[in-house]
Amino acid sequence: EEQSVEVPVFSAASYVCQRHTGQPGHNPLLTESLAVLAESAELNGDEGRGLAFRRSEALLRSLDRRVQGMTDLRGLPCLGEHSRRVIQDVLVNGRSSEVEETKASSRYKAMKVLTGVFGVGVKTAKRWFTEGICLKHYADLNQPVTRDEADSVSVTVEAAVCSVLPGAQVTLAGGFRRGKTSGHDVDFLITHPDEGKEEGLVRKVVACLESRGFLLYHQTTKNTYQESAQGAGRPSSNMDRFERCFSIFKLTNGGDPRDTRRAQEQAEGREPDQTASAGSRPWRAVRVDLVVSPISQFAFALLGWTGSKLFEREMRRWAVHEKSMTLSSHALYDKNQERYLRASSEEEIFSHLGLEYVSPSGRNA
Ligand code: GTP
Ligand code: MN
Ligand code: MN
Repeated sequence: EEQSVEVPVFSAASYVCQRHTGQPGHNPLLTESLAVLAESAELNGDEGRGLAFRRSEALLRSLDRRVQGMTDLRGLPCLGEHSRRVIQDVLVNGRSSEVEETKASSRYKAMKVLTGVFGVGVKTAKRWFTEGICLKHYADLNQPVTRDEADSVSVTVEAAVCSVLPGAQVTLAGGFRRGKTSGHDVDFLITHPDEGKEEGLVRKVVACLESRGFLLYHQTTKNTYQESAQGAGRPSSNMDRFERCFSIFKLTNGGDPRDTRRAQEQAEGREPDQTASAGSRPWRAVRVDLVVSPISQFAFALLGWTGSKLFEREMRRWAVHEKSMTLSSHALYDKNQERYLRASSEEEIFSHLGLEYVSPSGRNA
C-alpha cells in the first residue's frame, strides 16, 4: 500500500522580522487584494483587523514562488480564516468580490486620496488637510517621488547640514534605503560623531534651507527623549522623541530655487495660480522628513527609520514576546537583566534580539 507523505509546499517563520521580504514578490494579485482590505480596515480605525491583513500580505510577499492553489498554503503561519477566504476567491475567480466592493466604496476612495498624499494615518492626514497644505500642493504630493529626485534632495540636505555643522553625517533612510525606486517622501537621518554636537541641529538646518529658498512648509518638533529606569517607552508606541522636521521641499529642476521670481513668490505663499501643474513651473513640492539622532542612539534610529512600518512593528513584537525586551528607535532594554543593551550597528541589534540579520532590501514587508 502506498503511503503519502505530505511535504509542505512553502514554509515560513511566523514573525515578519525573521524573513526576507523583497518586493513586489511572486503573488502580486494576492498581495494587492489583501493590501486593499488592510487599508480599508485601517481607515475604519480597526487596527487589529488591519494588522492581520498586513501580516497575511507580508507572508505572501515573502514566498519565493507563485501560489497555485489553497493546498500550497497548508501549514503556513499568519494566514487567518478571512485572508484565506480572500486568497481562495482570487485563486478561483481571479478576483475577490469583497476587494472589488471595498475599492468601489466612496469612503475608501476619499480616504485613500488623503492618506496617499502623506503616507500617514488618517488622523495626521486630516490635520494636514485642514491646514490647507494638502490642497495647496495636492497634485505634486500625490505624485510619487523618484529615486533621482530623492538623490537631488540629498545633495541639498547634505550641503545645508554641512554648512551649519561640519562633520555631521546625513543618511538616506525610509523606503529608498530599502531599495524602493519611488516613495511618498524622502527620509533623512542626521547625526554627528561627537555626542551632543547634534543638539538643536534640526532648527539650524531648517533655518539654512529656508534662507536658501528650499522650504515650502516645515513643522519642527524637539527632542524629548530620556532614558528611564523602567526601560524604553511603551513597546506598542511607534512615535519616537527625536528632534525632527516634517517638511515640504521645493525641488527645482536644477539650480537655485531663487532663479525665477515666480518660484520666489510661490515660496512666500503668494502664488498667482494655485492649481498650476508641475509642468508649467521650474519646481515641484516633495515631502521630506528630517530626523536628528545622537550618535549613541544612531543604530536604533537607523533601524527604526528604515522601516517598513510592519517590519519595525514585528521586531518590537518579537522583542517583547520572545525576548522580554523593549525595542524603540532610541534603545533596546532587557527586562530580565534590567539594563539597556548598547549597539553601534543594526547587525548588533539583530544579534541582541537573537535574530538573523535582514538587510534593508529584505525589510519590505
Ligand atoms: P514611503 O515613504 O511611502 O516610500 O515608505 P517609507 O517606508 O519610507 O515610509 P515612511 O516615510 O512613512 O516611514 C519611514 C520609516 O520611518 C518607517 O519605518 C516608519 O515606521 C518610520 N517612522 C515614520 N514616522 C515615525 C515616527 O514618528 N517615529 C518613528 N520611530 N519612526 C517613524
Ligand atoms: Mn519614506
Ligand atoms: Mn517619512
